[in-house]
Amino acid sequence: HDLSRDNTLGLPCQAERFVAPAGLGELREALDLVHRAGWPLTLLGGGSNLILPAWLPGLVVHPAMQSWWLEEQGREVLVHAEAAVVWHELVMALAGRGLWGIENLALIPGDCGAAPIQNIGAYGVELSDVIEAVHLIHLDDGHEAVLSPAECAFGYRDSIFKGALDGRVVITRLVLRLSRTPSPRLGYGDLSGRVGAAPSARDVAEAVCAIRREKLPDPAVLGNAGSFFKNPVVAADLARRLVDDHPTMPHFPQPDGRVKLAAGWLIDQCGLKGWRQGHFGVHERQALVLVHFGGGSAVELLDFAGRVAEAVCERFGVMLEREPRLAAPA
Ligand code: EPU
Repeated sequence: HDLSRDNTLGLPCQAERFVAPAGLGELREALDLVHRAGWPLTLLGGGSNLILPAWLPGLVVHPAMQSWWLEEQGREVLVHAEAAVVWHELVMALAGRGLWGIENLALIPGDCGAAPIQNIGAYGVELSDVIEAVHLIHLDDGHEAVLSPAECAFGYRDSIFKGALDGRVVITRLVLRLSRTPSPRLGYGDLSGRVGAAPSARDVAEAVCAIRREKLPDPAVLGNAGSFFKNPVVAADLARRLVDDHPTMPHFPQPDGRVKLAAGWLIDQCGLKGWRQGHFGVHERQALVLVHFGGGSAVELLDFAGRVAEAVCERFGVMLEREPRLAAPA
C-alpha cells in the first residue's frame, strides 16, 4: 500500500499491509489480527507530523472514525471528536458556532487523534488549555482508558504519548471544553492588528488562517511537516549572553527561569533561509520549516536537517531538537 500521499512531507513509503477501521469494532479487530499474526504495527493519523521510512513492514492502521458531537454544559460545551476528525475542519465548525477555545489553532494540519501527542499549539494557545479527556485503547491487552489532562503530562510540544505511552496506545477520541463566553486571545504577534474591536471566534480563526497562509507552505503544494524543530528552551545564562551579542534576538522567559528562543530566527541568522540542497530546502518565508521538493527520502531529509542543526550549534551553541516523529513499527 502506497503511503506517499498520506504524509504531508510527501516522502515515498510502502506499507506491507494497511487498514483504515471506520469504527471501534473494526479497530479492535485490526489490533487482534496484529496480535495473532505477530506483525509489527504502525499507527498513522493525518501524517502531518511524521517522517516515514521507505518501507513499513507488518500492518499500518489508520483509525478512520470521523464523528463529533457536543455535550452542552450551560455556557460551556464539551466537544467529543473521534480520531479521524480533521482538526482544522473541527476548528472552523466550532468557531462558526460561536464556541471559543481553539480558534487560534486554525489551519493546523492533521487529525484530532494526533493532536495531543505533540500538544499542538500556535498563537498563544495549546491544546492542553482546552482538553478535558483523551480516550484510548492500550495495544497490549486492548483495554480502554480515559486520561485526564494531568495524566497526559502535557508540555511544550510534548505529552506522555511521546514518552511512557509512545507506541503503546491508540487514541480514539478527544474531549475538549469550549465556552460560549467570548475570550479572544490576541497577544501573539500582530494578531490583534488583524481583527476588529469585538471579533467573533470565526474572525480570530480567519485571521490566524491568513497569517499562516502568508508564512507557512501549503503541504498540498510543497511537502512539509510544519516546524521541523522545536523552539529551544535554554539556560538563563546562555540566553543572557546571546541577547548581549544579538540584542534583537526574540526570547521568551519561561516560568521555570529558562528562556525559550525562536529556532526560526537562529536558522535565519545562519543565512540558511531559502537554502536548498538536493530534494530538500529551508522554506524561504519561515526558516523553521523544512520543505521537500519531491524525489527525496527520509534518510536524505534527516541528513539535511542535521546540517541545519549543526550550523545553528556552531554559531550559537544551541542544540535544536527535531519536532516531527519518526514512524517506526511497535
Ligand atoms: N523568525 C525569523 N526568521 C524566520 C522565522 C522566524 O526571524 O525565518 C522570528 C520571527 O520574526 C519571530 C520569531 O522568530 O520573531 C518567531 O517566529 P513565528 O512567530 O513565526 O513562530 P515560531 O516560533 O517560528 C511557533 C510554532 C508554530 C506556530 C507559531 C505561531 C514551534 C516549533 N512552532 O513558530 O507551530 O504556528 O509559533 O504560534 O513552536 C508547528 O509546530 O508546526 C508550527 C507551525
